[in-house]
Amino acid sequence: MTQAMCLTQVLVLLVLYSYRSTAISWSHDAYYVNDMQIRQHSFWNHSRLLTKANEENIIDHYAIISSNTDPQSILLGGMATLDVYGVENLSNDKIIGSHICVINQQGPDLSSHNAVVAGWMVNPSYFGDSRTHFFTQWTADGYHSTGCYDTACAGFVLVKSAPINPGAILDPIDGKLKITLKIFKNKDDGNWWLHIGRDNHNLTAVGYWPKSIFNNLQYNANYIQWGGHTASILDNASPPMGNGHWPKQHAASVRDVRYVDASGTSYGIDPWPLGLRAYVSHKKCYDVSYFLNEMFYYGGPGGCTK
Ligand SMILES: *[C@@H]1O[C@H](CO)[C@@H](O)[C@H](O)[C@H]1NC(C)=O
Ligand SMILES: *[C@@H]1O[C@H](CO)[C@@H](O)[C@H](O)[C@H]1NC(C)=O
Ligand SMILES: *[C@@H]1O[C@H](CO)[C@@H](O)[C@H](O)[C@H]1NC(C)=O
Repeated sequence: MTQAMCLTQVLVLLVLYSYRSTAISWSHDAYYVNDMQIRQHSFWNHSRLLTKANEENIIDHYAIISSNTDPQSILLGGMATLDVYGVENLSNDKIIGSHICVINQQGPDLSSHNAVVAGWMVNPSYFGDSRTHFFTQWTADGYHSTGCYDTACAGFVLVKSAPINPGAILDPIDGKLKITLKIFKNKDDGNWWLHIGRDNHNLTAVGYWPKSIFNNLQYNANYIQWGGHTASILDNASPPMGNGHWPKQHAASVRDVRYVDASGTSYGIDPWPLGLRAYVSHKKCYDVSYFLNEMFYYGGPGGCTK
């Protein structure tokens, strides 16, 4: 049926490649690449995402923190605890979500983009309601012809003891629900395992993406990204991201931002001087905070029309 939403990561990676050859001017805020306004529709396949729209008029918005890695980097996993939010009556042509994305992309060629994603999302055109859903997603070719959300296609393998099914409704209880997601390439079978817990407790396996469904990602990842995203139609105001607050105390947060090794053990990320970077597509509408104590805030009121 549908495909989607690690699009933000695709954009970020392409931007990253385009910036690689130029000097990045660090301001007082070492994490920003300033004034990044990106047109993305030419390289993101939205044809199955928002049923009312076509590829040409969908705008993706994101406020994320990314590993500041390159194609040669070897990463085997990442984790995060996401605040979960809801929004009433979100219209069919909008998406709001937050996620962790584990990627292998070789150079700017989008067809090399392999990714697994997990997070929460309000996406009425896909789920048929304006509730918050736990979702997973994968692709092995930049969302062109492989992969899907949840278990809509063969790929993600649910384990019998899974505490939740991909696509299940989450009850956000005013942002008090915090889900912890851990994705890592298990040394025992080489597959990409997804664990879920609540507020960094009781992490339990949901299932795995077999390494055999990927090409680059069957060996390792080279980028990991965390944050928020929204999508909307050109000329329509974009929706709020996170809980709609600008990134500071009481805004949506991503916590326990750590890497994970092949035995499933997490380890801290040194953000200085260049361990992590921020990417914000529309700084008039969204932003991310500094990264401190393994966490950051993200979000904003939205309202961007292009
Ligand atoms: C959502 O829609 C319902 C039904 O039309 C309405 O009663 C409710 O007030 C709406 N909520 C918001 C926040 O707009
Ligand atoms: C988008 O996805 C559809 C459905 O899989 C596919 O037919 C189409 O070729 C894709 N377009 C691009 C530009 O990748
Ligand atoms: C973790 O599981 C234990 C035992 O089932 C339960 O008592 C506890 O409330 C759980 N913790 C969280 C944060 O859900």
